[in-house]
Amino acid sequence: MRIPDSAIDDVRLASDIVEVISPTVRLKKRGKNYLGLCPFHTEKTPSFTVSAEKQMFHCFGCGTGGNVFTFLMRIDKVPFPEAVRTLAERAGITLPQTGGPDTESVHEPLYTACRRAGMYFYDNLFRSPEGDLALRYFHKRGFSDETIRTFGLGCSLNSWDGLLRFGREEGIEPATLEKAGLVVRRDDGSGFYDRFRGRAMFPILSAAGKTIGFGARKLRDDDPLAKYINSPETPVYDKSRVLYGLSQTKDEIRSAESALLVEGYADLLSLYQAGIRNVVASSGTALTDQQIRLIGRYSRNIVLVYDADSAGSKAMMKGVDLIVAQGFEVRVVSLPQGEDPDSFVRNNGADDFRALADKAMNFLDFKVEQFRAAGLLASPEGQTRAVRSIVRTIATMKDELKRNLYIKHLSETYGIYESVLFRELEKQEGKAAAESKWRPEKASEAEEPVSKTTVASMPPVDRDLLKVMIENGPRIIELVATETSNGDFSTGVGSRVFSFLLERARMEEPWDPAGMVDDIRDDEVRNIVTELLFNKYEISKGWEARDSAPEEVDPELIVTGCLELRQRERLEREIADNQKSLRAASARGEDLKPYLLRHRELLNRKHRTAGAPAGQQ
Ligand code: CTP
Ligand code: MN
Repeated sequence: MRIPDSAIDDVRLASDIVEVISPTVRLKKRGKNYLGLCPFHTEKTPSFTVSAEKQMFHCFGCGTGGNVFTFLMRIDKVPFPEAVRTLAERAGITLPQTGGPDTESVHEPLYTACRRAGMYFYDNLFRSPEGDLALRYFHKRGFSDETIRTFGLGCSLNSWDGLLRFGREEGIEPATLEKAGLVVRRDDGSGFYDRFRGRAMFPILSAAGKTIGFGARKLRDDDPLAKYINSPETPVYDKSRVLYGLSQTKDEIRSAESALLVEGYADLLSLYQAGIRNVVASSGTALTDQQIRLIGRYSRNIVLVYDADSAGSKAMMKGVDLIVAQGFEVRVVSLPQGEDPDSFVRNNGADDFRALADKAMNFLDFKVEQFRAAGLLASPEGQTRAVRSIVRTIATMKDELKRNLYIKHLSETYGIYESVLFRELEKQEGKAAAESKWRPEKASEAEEPVSKTTVASMPPVDRDLLKVMIENGPRIIELVATETSNGDFSTGVGSRVFSFLLERARMEEPWDPAGMVDDIRDDEVRNIVTELLFNKYEISKGWEARDSAPEEVDPELIVTGCLELRQRERLEREIADNQKSLRAASARGEDLKPYLLRHRELLNRKHRTAGAPAGQQ
């Protein structure tokens, strides 16, 4: 099912292009626009321009441009509907569900296998002595029946073929179960066995609520395997892009305007059950940029609450740097030694947890504390190292104002001259800008050849005409259409832009350049349109003599000016051609009269058309 145009417009209007781009590109305000290093080609001086007012971007280096959807499609390499969905989620706009057999993904059998397996594990809790053991385990950990239901907890039987047999009854092929990571092929190739046996099962859901994998905790002391076993990566389960609990908590995260990030399944469940519901869990894997951006769809404030042990602190130090570099706000909660969020909230209750969370430290104070605890602050050398490390983190911030604020704060905390810190910052900024630059995820996709058609390769008259049409809409476009033959553009791309504008003008919809960008299928046409909308090329020729600014000039005057100019140029060409012929005829000793008459006539025409600017002839 197509997403309705009105919904697409809503999403675009609700999104801010500067906010969407700034986690990826370090933007600096320059006049009315923002400027940064282009993520679509390699460059050393910024030519990637973003306009908040126009809600568009354009790179004057490689010619790529578009609106907020174009940006996401290019940077995440996703199709248009997914870009719309991502931004809709972020803005809290509900889109109609897509579905139907034609849009069903090729992964549907894997989703089905995971969903059915989840139901099977859940049902197991209530129909066997073994399930009863798991149920009692959950209760002992303090999970209520409601929590068990909400998160679909379950248990796998202590057998090699529990799920396989269920699959056989349900018509789910073992090969499908294998692909979904639920069963494993025997070494000798003679069949399959259940991956999860005799364990408490935690279904892992995508943000959209589809079951895609499982975490499985051991229940018995004699279980020889690790405390937790998890689904392997599968076509539907990409660990680096998933957060446990998000599908159940995303609305709470959005309304709380912050997300608590914990490590474990149990941490999330205990907090949720205690009524603290703006939580997600990284599930023991190191935090990734994709996970941070996933949280960022719902809130830009992330609060880390990791276990109070050295592993937890180390993980938080790394997490803080990643989050800062993505341009989000991050704070850190320190739990009493030996506690994790699960134990703390069960021992002390939700109010105490909230009190602790309210005292979360900003990332700078957290780092200072960590360095102090490590004894670094005792010596001048150690202090220098600590300061340098913190400045390095600050240098990755894309917001100039924020960088300055944190430098001030650091200066006050350490009693170090701001100028010294700023000098260090400048040194680090160069490196950070180079490193933080977005890289394509797969090396093979790097540096796609850019076919670059730019406005600069068009005659000035053509570009001025196109610009004034794009800026002013149907009335002006129709004017050009009647006064010319299909615009009379001298480049192919110019004619293509004109055809698009004309078609658009005749749709009788409100004129909205940022909106129409979605309907341009031709990349060259889109890039020309966005480039023209950015002010680098002011409308200029022929009327700068009048003392009004270009923007204030009547668009009809610009059109007539352009067309006159074209005509004059054509006459000049004809005059030059005629004079060439005259010289040739003269060299051959022929009669020059026809050429002289023609010259006279052309000159007369030239003086008749060269009316403007008035009084200057
Ligand atoms: N984890 C994992 N594999 C392991 C250990 C841990 O995947 N062998 C992940 C799990 O998602 C776990 C999280 O890391 O929830 C945190 O690990 P840990 O603190 O050791 O576990 P707890 O959540 O405290 O588990 P429990 O309370 O059940 O002992
Ligand atoms: Mn724990």
